[in-house]
Amino acid sequence: MKKVGILGVGKYLPKKILTNADLEKMVDTSDEWITTRTGIKERHLVAPDEATSDLAVKAARQALEHAQLKPEDLDLIIIATITPDVPFPATACFVQNKLGAKNAICFDISAACAGFIYALGIAKQFIASGTCRNALVVGAEVLSSITDWKDRSTCVLFGDGAGAAVLGEVEKGGILSSYLGCEGQYTNLLYMPAGGSRMPASQKTIDERQHFIKMAGNEVFKIAVMSMVEAAQTALKQAGLKCADINWIIPHQANLRIIDAVAKRLGFVNAKIYLNIEKYGNMSSASTATAMVEAAQEGGIKKGDIVLLVAFGAGLVRGATIIQW
Ligand code: UT7
Repeated sequence: MKKVGILGVGKYLPKKILTNADLEKMVDTSDEWITTRTGIKERHLVAPDEATSDLAVKAARQALEHAQLKPEDLDLIIIATITPDVPFPATACFVQNKLGAKNAICFDISAACAGFIYALGIAKQFIASGTCRNALVVGAEVLSSITDWKDRSTCVLFGDGAGAAVLGEVEKGGILSSYLGCEGQYTNLLYMPAGGSRMPASQKTIDERQHFIKMAGNEVFKIAVMSMVEAAQTALKQAGLKCADINWIIPHQANLRIIDAVAKRLGFVNAKIYLNIEKYGNMSSASTATAMVEAAQEGGIKKGDIVLLVAFGAGLVRGATIIQW
C-alpha cells in the first residue's frame, strides 16, 4: 500500500459576519450566555447567491495552488457536507464542473461533523490502493440554510465555510491511522426531520418548521465527550502512538467546553490545540477542515509534526485520524 499524505490545503469563509450582538436582536439570548456556554463570538454566513459548491471551489482552488497541481490532475473529488447545493446530483459534481476537473470521480458523503475525517479516510483508501493518484477532499457547509433562526437553542451555534485538502502519495509520514465509527441508535438526537423520503416537503412540513436542524443539545454534549475520547484513543492505538507523541490536536469545534473536557480526559501534555470556534462557530464538516488548514497556514504546523483530527456529529458518527505532516 502506498503512503498517503496532504499535498496542499485551502479554506474559504464567506464575507458576512454575524456577531453575538446581532443575535441578541434576533432571539432572546445574550453575548454572555453564548460565550460562556459555547465559546462562540461570531460566525460567517453566505450571501444569498452563494451555495456550498461555491465555498468548496474557492477552498479547493487554494489547496490546488498550494499542492502545485492543476484541476485535471485530480482523479477523485469527495465533498463532505450535510447541506448540498441540491438533494441530487452530488455537490462534488458541481465542484468538478466549476474547477474543470474533468478526470475526477465525484461523490458526496454525509457524515455531519465527522464528514471531513470520513472523507479523508475514504480518499486515503483510493490512493493507497493505487485506484487514484490525487484526491480533493472538502468539508463544506452552508448550515445557515437549515438553521431555524427563531430557535435560540440552535441558531447561535452554527456558521458557514469550507476547508479543503489535496491528497496524494508521499514518501514519508502522511495518514498514519484513520478510525471511523457510528452509534446509529442516536439518530434522533440531532437531525433534520423533513425533506427526505420519510417526510417529503409539503406545506405542512414548512409550517411546522421541520426543514431545520433539531438537536437535543444536552444529550449530544454528554455522548460527544466520551465519543471523541474513544475515537482519539483508537486512532492512537492503530498508529502505535501515545498521547505524548501528538504535536497538534484539531478537534471538531462544536463547543469549547466539550473540547476542554476531551483534552483533559486524554491528557495531551505537549500538544497544541487549534481553536477557531470563537470566530466561526460550529460549521459541521468544515470545522475540522478549516481548523486543520489554519493550523497549517498560520498556526505553525511544521514538517514532521504529528497531528490528530477528532470529531463527532449527527448519526451519531465519530472519527479520528492521525497525520504526520
Ligand atoms: O456538532 C454537532 C454536535 N453538537 C454539539 O456538540 C452540541 C452539543 N451541545 C452543546 O454544545 C450544549 O448542550 C448547548 C450549547 C447546545 C447548550 O448548552 P447547555 O449548557 O447544555 O444549555 P441547556 O440546553 O442545558 O440550556 C440551559 C438554559 C435553558 O434554560 P433553563 O431551562 O435552564 O431556564 C435554556 O432554555 O439555557 C437556555 N438557553 C439559552 N439562553 C440564552 C438555551 N439556548 C439559549 C440561548 N441564549 N441561546
